[in-house]
Amino acid sequence: MPTLALQEKIPCLDLKGQHQQIKEEIFEAFEKVYNDTAFSGGPFVEEFEKNFAACCKTNYAVGVNNGTSALHLAMLALGIGVGDEVIVPANTFIATAWGVSYTGATPVFVDCTPDTWQIDASRIEEKISSRTKAIIGVHLYGQPFDVEALQVICQKYGLYLLEDAAQAQGATYNGIPVGGFGVMACFSFYPGKNLGACGEAGGITTNQEHYYKHLLSLRNHGSTVRYYHDEIGFNMRMGGLEGASLSVKLKYLPSWNNRRKEIAKRYQQEITNEQLQLQAKPDWAESIYHLFVVTTADREGLFKYLNEHNIFPGLHYPVPCHLQKAYSHLGYQEGDCPHAEYLASHCVSLPMYAELTDEEVAYVIDVLNAYRNA
Ligand SMILES: Cc1ncc(COP(=O)(O)O)c(C=O)c1O
Repeated sequence: MPTLALQEKIPCLDLKGQHQQIKEEIFEAFEKVYNDTAFSGGPFVEEFEKNFAACCKTNYAVGVNNGTSALHLAMLALGIGVGDEVIVPANTFIATAWGVSYTGATPVFVDCTPDTWQIDASRIEEKISSRTKAIIGVHLYGQPFDVEALQVICQKYGLYLLEDAAQAQGATYNGIPVGGFGVMACFSFYPGKNLGACGEAGGITTNQEHYYKHLLSLRNHGSTVRYYHDEIGFNMRMGGLEGASLSVKLKYLPSWNNRRKEIAKRYQQEITNEQLQLQAKPDWAESIYHLFVVTTADREGLFKYLNEHNIFPGLHYPVPCHLQKAYSHLGYQEGDCPHAEYLASHCVSLPMYAELTDEEVAYVIDVLNAYRNA
């Protein structure tokens, strides 16, 4: 049985510790935004964009109001619309597919591999048609997808590669930060992300100036000169308070990610219970462990057991995209993406955030190792 008995509840994610540590710095940054009344776009957003592009080693970053908008605008910047198809992994957060659907195009879902839980590159070509315009690879849970395999397919069929890096700020593929492998990469800075704003925010990185300029216009009512509108655009600017909070937090991102890696390493090395399966990590992938997901035969049983031990895991995600009601008109059936379906009904997200103490990590490991499927 577990050697430690903790009184405190251990959730899947707790944002309070992080925000207490940096409260003063954040409030100072907010005061500057307030004094400048720079609430929408403006210098604090521009400063963050510059810093974030440097962090991703890309030429440009464009701040927007959330990660879903980032995906939507990236699709529009690629000229994707009605009649087009875009390949999307079946196991991802639904917003990966929303960006496609908002343009009138159709997401085409592809299963994941049974071990990395990333899009299965060997199942993509059978889904490519004359309408296919792009593939969205998702660096799911913070672990880079097989970039090279997708780049090869994109080159062969003349498709765009787009990265959904919403969960992967600071993750690296072969030592290179994600964000510059596709024509564009979309990030979420939702508060719960490894780099999360004090509010809703998102961003797009790119190395190509024409996408950068187009995105600046699209997020700002299709305008580059005030009150002159060159195309139908959107109000999807990032707020000044969000930009300022992100600049403060960006400085801490490497240390927060390193702490998550330390915790993940302990989970990987010390969870020895064979009733739990961990995500396979190829050599080229350096995850930032936005989530630490395991699978187990009896998920309900494990949840109940963990809750009894004051551990409250998460669920990412219980329904794969192709079986969501919103996409029932596309006609997918159970069995179409068996690995994504298995993952959806067996996944459990363990506690993962930088402020977990060593004692809490040891406790979670002990409790998991003592678990026996009834
Ligand atoms: C993989 C993925 N894509 C897109 C998004 C959308 O980001 P946002 O919530 O900022 O709109 C998220 C965020 O939850 C995500 O996890």
